[in-house]
Amino acid sequence: MPTRNIVKEGDSCLRKVCRPVTDFNDRLHTLLDDMHETLAEANGAGLAAPQVGVLRRLALVMLEDGSYLEIINPEIVEKSGTQNDVEGCLSVPGVWGMVERPMNVTVSAQDRFGKPFTVSAEGFTARAFCHEIDHLDGHLFTDLVTEYIDPEELE
Ligand code: CO
Repeated sequence: MPTRNIVKEGDSCLRKVCRPVTDFNDRLHTLLDDMHETLAEANGAGLAAPQVGVLRRLALVMLEDGSYLEIINPEIVEKSGTQNDVEGCLSVPGVWGMVERPMNVTVSAQDRFGKPFTVSAEGFTARAFCHEIDHLDGHLFTDLVTEYIDPEELE
């Protein structure tokens, strides 16, 4: 599985509204496999298709056990509470900032074969779902930052 290049802020791919996935075929599976490899190598909490230049509605999100969940055509169907914490993005390297997100989310999505499922998450994982789904609508976390954090303060 080859890794793919992660595009950086300034690339127009990151500002497009992505189209739904309609074909759950080998090409999709190859993309997902490549994204797993890319994300594992980058050691990130999530990766959305537009970050590898593909304008389709799919992403990977790290779950609490450290595995990556594939979400195709995801939608947040429920959210509650708020949390305010530090966020970053593989497409905006070296930048960290405070972002308010829901504390709990429920997401409906499809798996790589098109089978629908729902998943609930809280805390850091809920934040990761929101961040990745935002990517599919051309939104970056920097749009929401209330305060930038000096990376040295995070050490
Ligand atoms: Co990101």
